[in-house]
Amino acid sequence: MDKSLITLLDTYWDNPVWFAEDMMNFHADKWQSEVLMALAQSPKVSVRSGQGVGKTGLESIVVTWYLCTRPFPKVIATAPTRQQLYDVLWAEISKWLASSKIENLLEWTKTKIYMKGYSERWWATAKTATRPENMQGFHEDYMLFVVDEASGVADPIMEAILGTLTGYENKLLMCGNPTRTSGTFYDSHNRDRDLYKTFKVSSLESPRTSKDNIEMLKRKYHEGSDVWRVRVEGEFPKGESDSLISLEYAETATITKINNIHNNFTLHIGADIARFGNDESVIAPRIGNKVFDLLTYTKKDTMETTGNILRATDKFKNEYKHINKVKIRVDDDGLGGGVTDRLREVIRQEGLGYEVMPIKNGSKANDEEHYSDKSAEMWGNMRDILEENFTNFVQGKESTIELPNNDKLIKQLSNRKFRIDSKGRIDLEKKEEMKKRIGESPDLADAVIYSFAENGISDLSLLKGGRIWG
Ligand SMILES: Nc1ncnc2c1ncn2[C@@H]1O[C@H](COP(=O)(O)OP(=O)(O)OP(=O)(O)O)[C@@H](O)[C@H]1O
Ligand SMILES: [Mg+2]
Repeated sequence: MDKSLITLLDTYWDNPVWFAEDMMNFHADKWQSEVLMALAQSPKVSVRSGQGVGKTGLESIVVTWYLCTRPFPKVIATAPTRQQLYDVLWAEISKWLASSKIENLLEWTKTKIYMKGYSERWWATAKTATRPENMQGFHEDYMLFVVDEASGVADPIMEAILGTLTGYENKLLMCGNPTRTSGTFYDSHNRDRDLYKTFKVSSLESPRTSKDNIEMLKRKYHEGSDVWRVRVEGEFPKGESDSLISLEYAETATITKINNIHNNFTLHIGADIARFGNDESVIAPRIGNKVFDLLTYTKKDTMETTGNILRATDKFKNEYKHINKVKIRVDDDGLGGGVTDRLREVIRQEGLGYEVMPIKNGSKANDEEHYSDKSAEMWGNMRDILEENFTNFVQGKESTIELPNNDKLIKQLSNRKFRIDSKGRIDLEKKEEMKKRIGESPDLADAVIYSFAENGISDLSLLKGGRIWG
């Protein structure tokens, strides 16, 4: 074996912190040093934390340290998604290697890192945590598994990893945002705690986290909420669901006024179509950021519903002569699909030139990192604008939204619950669950929220930038 390798092995076998300093040019934060030393001494280490504290950075040091200080090691790095594994973790390793003193020893490729001269038996590899088979069949004295975003790794895969760890100096490092209250990662901090060295790192204490971001989370979700616990404190969620929009925010929007709608030339119509289980179709007209009184109709067929929407549109165009554009958004779930088709047909036949956009509640959010689906994203955006309006109101500034004073609407807006899903995203309570809980589903609220949806993304997120809508 190469002499420089033997020196590395000798010097840093037990001291990854020195290795990080001397070889990687990585000055570990206090908690990172503690985790590194714990891993040198124990077989299993599990770290739960808020966001952005430096877990992935730490993992990249762990991978290179083990690779340079154990003879003929196998290192398996994994994460729940390809993106997280290759674009984040594997890229982070490349970043630290590039400025290290061991760059010449190792060969970094897209899926493997080799010790030069020993490519067959001395390596680290990246494998997505999607199939247990990916984790099996490795048996070596010197083997290390590094699991990033460990809360998101499914149990059979974690079990395969645990089953593989049988060698003399086998190690496991799991790190993650504690998003899920079951599974191996959860157990490592709870039931099986005695089998691991565990750490908790709060974003509040980390020198790396954005304090502005933390302030924003505090304002939006409050300390003690699950979002706060998971993303900031590094605590597992309590799992109690909470209302996404506070009563205060919703109510305030019924007393704030928007007066400049003569500058807005588009009439927006949001339509929630009655389907099984609920018996009203709702039409929400909006000009600028003023939402007018909602129109409700008892369950009607596609033709009649289409007629109602077009009649409501006519009425507004007559009353507000400056309107020269109409955008209609209809939910595309259930019966809504038929309405979209029929609307388009009539609009074409009569040459009306209105824009019709179907809304797919269950489709992917634009901001996939924070919302479980489109519906959650649209509601989240509504929440943000209502909050901004409330803040402006308290500070005596100009309002950003006006809602009709409709008790049922306010009740629905302020009663939709949400929870944090296993990926740490906002996930709305199912409509059926809400219906069971409060006796109605959020038809009025949805119609209003649809009236703000633009290309499937809520206008509201754009409004936040202060843009006035046409
Ligand atoms: N000790 C360190 N010295 C310098 N930079 C570091 C250190 N630790 C981490 N970083 C850098 O800080 C940034 C954030 O760290 P990192 O991505 O590792 O955090 P994380 O806890 O994995 O975040 P997330 O919760 O989003 O997964 C990265 O650019 C990383 O390279
Ligand atoms: Mg990370």
